[in-house]
Amino acid sequence: MPRSAHADVKGETYPVPIKAIDPASGTRLLSGSQELDRVLGGGFMRGSAILLGGEPGIGKSTLLLQVCARLETKGRVLYVSGEESPAQIRLRADRLGALRESIEVLCATNLDRIMSVFDAVKPVLIVIDSIQTINSPEAGAIPGTANQIKYCTLEMTDWVKNHDAIIIFVAHVTKDGMIAGPKVAEHIVDAVLAFEQAEGDIRALRASKNRFGSTDELGLYRMSSAGLAELTDPSGILLVKRDGGLPPGVAIAIVHEGSRILLVEIQALTVPAKAGITRVYSDRIDASRVARIAAVLEKQTGLRLSDQDIYVNVAGGVRLGEPGIDLALAAALYSARTSQPLPLGSALAGELSLAGEIRPVRQMGKRARAARTLNFSRVIGPGESIMPEHGKIEQQSGSDWLKVESLKSALRILWSNE
Ligand code: TYD
Ligand code: MG
Repeated sequence: MPRSAHADVKGETYPVPIKAIDPASGTRLLSGSQELDRVLGGGFMRGSAILLGGEPGIGKSTLLLQVCARLETKGRVLYVSGEESPAQIRLRADRLGALRESIEVLCATNLDRIMSVFDAVKPVLIVIDSIQTINSPEAGAIPGTANQIKYCTLEMTDWVKNHDAIIIFVAHVTKDGMIAGPKVAEHIVDAVLAFEQAEGDIRALRASKNRFGSTDELGLYRMSSAGLAELTDPSGILLVKRDGGLPPGVAIAIVHEGSRILLVEIQALTVPAKAGITRVYSDRIDASRVARIAAVLEKQTGLRLSDQDIYVNVAGGVRLGEPGIDLALAAALYSARTSQPLPLGSALAGELSLAGEIRPVRQMGKRARAARTLNFSRVIGPGESIMPEHGKIEQQSGSDWLKVESLKSALRILWSNE
């Protein structure tokens, strides 16, 4: 027999008939930030735990205080800080216009103390800023150790699951990515988000794990004196302003990240390898993809790359994982190796097969129109597009872009001065 009505409707302790499950558990709550909602897959899932990682000073506390103020709920919100004083938090809230009646602030680091407040307040949203400061005598004496983080994260996540609330753990990470401690929490939570500096005051939010949505959405914000502002039409925001022409080794890719189009600059550099072994240095685009595109380029054009060290960077600092960047990457490598710059106004999209064919990409028409809007006059891409509605490939008409079938013909168009 079920021990409580709670166990009954959630089906967690005993099996329950599917029709008896309360569908309202597991509904979403909007965060008040469209960018965050998109990255989460449509807002917060009730009963979920999220880890938000980022370097110190990147804006994690700012983002979360704004979310506390704007979350679409009538319930209570608890902001637990182990790092700042109540007065500091109040001052930040003033600055952000985030003074909301229902936000309660607790400056504490002891797990038992914090969880007794959970029971008393019954918040809908809890922010733990940061998980590295919370400790329990149950898990050894030193805060911030992997053991402490694991124990405290598990305990608090359990509470949230049983109360259909939402918890966000802040985790400080170093430049090299997650340090040992917060890594253990990644397995416990439902979503892992990274908050990073893209370019200057632009911040990028991305999920590396998401039980309730995809991981290919990119959220973009601008840090201002009044907090983080949403960048709802960011398509050209990461482009480098250049007077005159492009330097060799630079190509503009039209990228489809999640549901949005972005134009980004891919930079490549090739230098003769000093040692017998050549290397690829690329942390924004997967190095194995760079090696593969370089091999296709060498095979198709005869241009020698296999004796070169290859460096690849993405201006604006975003990580690109989308297959549609292949063609721009190939053009950047070609340009770097031959020292011939791409013509100004060119923008590229297309996946490359190992045989040097240009494969269709998602939303080619939409990409071309976005590039046109940003005054790119020579848009090059595949003649077919993968339609988002049904995933089928369709032939595209219209003259928004130059349609190419192979890497060779794309390079010919780029360097023919037509
Ligand atoms: P913060 O949210 O404290 O970063 P984190 O919690 O990730 O360590 O933000 C740090 C920086 O943001 C700080 O240098 C000041 C700046 N900032 C603004 O530019 N505008 C603002 O409105 C706020 C609150 C902070
Ligand atoms: Mg902070």
